[in-house]
This record gives sequence, C-alpha cells and structure tokens, in this order.
Amino acid sequence: MINLGNSGLELYLDDDYGLKSHNKKVIIPEPGVRRMHELNEVFLEEPELVCNDAAYFMYRGIYHDGDREIFEKNNIRYDITVIPPRKIRNEFIKTLGHRHPCAEIYEVLNGKAIYLMQNEEEAISTGVNSSEVMYILRNHDHVTINPSGEVLVMSNIVKSDIESDYGIIKSKKGMSFFFIEEDYEKKFVQNNNYKETRLKIKNPPNFLFMPLYNSFLFNPSFFTNL
Ligand SMILES: [Fe+2]
Repeated sequence: MINLGNSGLELYLDDDYGLKSHNKKVIIPEPGVRRMHELNEVFLEEPELVCNDAAYFMYRGIYHDGDREIFEKNNIRYDITVIPPRKIRNEFIKTLGHRHPCAEIYEVLNGKAIYLMQNEEEAISTGVNSSEVMYILRNHDHVTINPSGEVLVMSNIVKSDIESDYGIIKSKKGMSFFFIEEDYEKKFVQNNNYKETRLKIKNPPNFLFMPLYNSFLFNPSFFTNL
C-alpha cells in the first residue's frame, strides 16, 4: 500500500494499483485502462509479446464531495495516473502521448517521472521527483516516462473539455526520443522518423506549489487561464 495523502486528499494505492480512500466523500471514478497493445506502435522496438495487459491506469475527475461545485463551475478536472514499472525490451514504459491547445500541470505523488515534451523545433526533457511539479506548455506533444523500478503515481489538473490530438505521435511512431537502458546506462536515443531534433534538459519549475489539488481550490483562475 502507498499512502497518497500528499495529494491533499485521503487517498492510497492498494497492492493491485487500485486507487482507494477510507473517506466516502472522496469520489474516485472507475479508471480508464491503457493496454500494452495500444502502445505497441510507439516503442523503439516492437514488444516481443503484444498483449492485453494493463500498461497504466487513468482516474479522471477525482474530487472531494464538498469541492464538486468549484470543479464544475470552473470546468476543471483533477486526475491521477498510475504507471507501474516495466520495460519493453530496453525501453522504459511511458504514456501514449498527445498534444492539446492549453497547458497542463502535473505533480508527482510517488516514484519518479521524466516528462518529455516537443514542438516542431525542439524536445525538452525534465526529471521530476516525488513532491515536485511540472508545467506542460500548450501545443506541445508530451509523454510521461516511468524511468525507475517504483510505481509512478502522478496527478494533473486540466480543463474538463480538453480535446487531445494523438495524430503526430502515432504517425511518427512515438516522440522524437526514446528513453532506454543499455549496458546499465539510461539514455535518450533519437527516433529516426523525425529530422534531427535538439534535446534540452530542464529542471522542474519552482513557481507552482503542492498539493496541486489544494492549489486549485486556493486559486482556480490560475488553472482556468492555462
Ligand atoms: Fe496532456
């Protein structure tokens, strides 16, 4: 069991990666499940076995019952994504990836994340530890990589009616870089479906505060203006 009280909600993760609360007023929707076969096309090398296994779990629209109105009124959603550790050949597990016209904020609640985002000019990688946050720029493709042996649990706040575009990433078979481990070294390798792309390494921003959930309740307009 992993205590996720650092989210600002009474949440924990059970041993089957189920998000739970002992507080009945914390509303947790059924998770969307991304299956391994849906990710097949975006790995550097095709998995040896394309299977129906769950790759990660997306809990979209969590709230405390007392906060329902403020989320609805502002058209904002608070989500939690759970990405168990896994490697596909030598590449670390990651989300499918997409882009949308508004920005998005992530917070790592457990484990570590590498956020990789890109536009037509460059790619930016940011390593984020537990208790740190990340700002995804608008109109940038983005994926989350779990680069460790721990389960990655992250939250995000985003507009409820967001429309995500998966097209570029699917057509290029992934982002411009893959994150792999080779000879005990973890590193990025270029995706040859792109022209040569610059990779910048950036630190996580320090102008955002945890818990993200409480930040939204304190200042909703910051999030509605993303
Ligand atoms: Fe997103």
